[in-house]
Amino acid sequence: MDNIQSQIERRRTFAIISHPDAGKTTLTEKFLLYGGVINTAGSVKGKATAKHAVSDWMEIEKQRGISVTSSALQFEYDGCCINILDTPGHQDFSEDTYRTLMAADSAVMVIDGSKGVEAQTKKLFKVCTMRHIPIFTFINKMDRDAMDTFDLLDDIEKNLGIDTCPVNWPIGSGKNFKGIFERSSNEIVRYSDTQKGTREGVETRISADDSDAVREEIGEQAFEKLTEETELLDGASADFDLELVRKGELTPVFFGSALQNFGVEIFLKSFLEMAPSPTPRMSGDSLVDPVKEGFSAFVFKIQANMNKAHRDRIAFMRICSGRYDAGMEVKHVQSGRIQRLSQPQQLMAESRKILDEAYAGDIMGVFDPGIYSIGDTLCLPKDNFRYEGIPTFAPEHFARVRQVDTMKRDQFVKGIRQIAQEGAIQVFQEYNTGMEEIIVGVVGVLQFDVLKFRLDSEYNVEIRMDMLPYEHIRWIANQEEVNVRNIVGTTDMKLVKDMKDRPLLLFVNPWSPQMVLERNKGLVLEEFSRN
Ligand code: G4P
Repeated sequence: MDNIQSQIERRRTFAIISHPDAGKTTLTEKFLLYGGVINTAGSVKGKATAKHAVSDWMEIEKQRGISVTSSALQFEYDGCCINILDTPGHQDFSEDTYRTLMAADSAVMVIDGSKGVEAQTKKLFKVCTMRHIPIFTFINKMDRDAMDTFDLLDDIEKNLGIDTCPVNWPIGSGKNFKGIFERSSNEIVRYSDTQKGTREGVETRISADDSDAVREEIGEQAFEKLTEETELLDGASADFDLELVRKGELTPVFFGSALQNFGVEIFLKSFLEMAPSPTPRMSGDSLVDPVKEGFSAFVFKIQANMNKAHRDRIAFMRICSGRYDAGMEVKHVQSGRIQRLSQPQQLMAESRKILDEAYAGDIMGVFDPGIYSIGDTLCLPKDNFRYEGIPTFAPEHFARVRQVDTMKRDQFVKGIRQIAQEGAIQVFQEYNTGMEEIIVGVVGVLQFDVLKFRLDSEYNVEIRMDMLPYEHIRWIANQEEVNVRNIVGTTDMKLVKDMKDRPLLLFVNPWSPQMVLERNKGLVLEEFSRN
């Protein structure tokens, strides 16, 4: 038991959220460097492939089977066992990116210091706040000219609605970047770019009390500015309160340069101290304790095998409690079946390893002959946990989809349904008519190409897609209380239903949902749909 407890308590499972190009890959790579997983910077693949054109992506996906978009990285550092969940963010941004956040206990938010909060970060942040998970901010690229530090903090607070507490403070940026002032130790850490590719960079620290030494190191002008800013900061910023951090109401903010490997280890160390180990999760009305209870897990992502010869899929599950031992019997709660998991694997960037044991906080990939759905629970045969389902997230791109050959209607419908069940796309229909008209919604446009490719290669169905102008979607949360057909809409609104026959509204303009709410008293609209 003690072993289980200590193994679970030393685990940290998190996702990195950011806008493309903010530096997520570079930061991950530096983490791996500290974890001893890689020896030199520049060896993490995946980023380059993610930036490839769509057709290339298909090739890569085919050649590598499932590995490109499905990795969770595990490594050891400072006595902790760290699981980083990959949140695909370039072209392969999809609903899976959101779902992955359901498996994380905390999130690291990477922001480009010259740009502030960007669109994709905002979307991912919303999912984190829905779960109230702690968020740690790393403001990156300080070796380039950055926005004013107070403006950056203001931007986070206003745009994301979370309080900020700088743990350290940058001294200049770009060519004038001199380092950071660490508030807790009252020390200046000098910037140097010599640590770039190394693990053991030499940190020069000077006590901030020794003002002569600081002046000499960073120059008179930077010293004056720092003094002014820290005085302002002490008066203006929120006090550090770990309780609020844990609730996701306050984000500790760090500054650095992932590329130059500056400020990364300081961030990693503080993060590991503050971030929670696997937290209890709700099953029905009760919380499941990760240490006291036996093995349990939930499926957060299903990845279809792109290899035509293998129709099987891989279900990714996050262990929520206890320990998994190779060969143990588990219950798939939704079907009631008792089974042994088929070759549970841990996926590391390029390689796979069959797991002998795993603990709460860890991620496993399991071959799925088609029995799992996203959100399903697994537990010991004697237990009956049922974790809260994973919400359906709002798609942002819509297309009307038709099969070219009308004789292939059955295959078309079957293929669309199966791909939708895997969670790669969402399918909608006109509210009044049946299956004749199919509207597909996706979170990232690449999913349209995946759909076309898979229908063609796996179901032998060629399709035509006509893009629709809708970008905003709202589920009607109280359909029993309103007369759906009589909703007073806007001219850009379309009423449809999803695969579970739930009514929802599509809009072209971002302001329309609000107008519809004003026109229909009592109507409740939701951006996520709780399953
Ligand atoms: P992402 O995963 O969030 O999309 O970002 P990624 O790490 O790929 O970084 C995007 C670009 O920003 C890369 O440059 C990377 O080298 C650069 N970058 C990341 N962190 C820093 C930093 O701290 N300072 C500076 N100056 N640049 C940084 P690229 O030219 O697009 O790619 P590459 O050719 O360098 O590989």
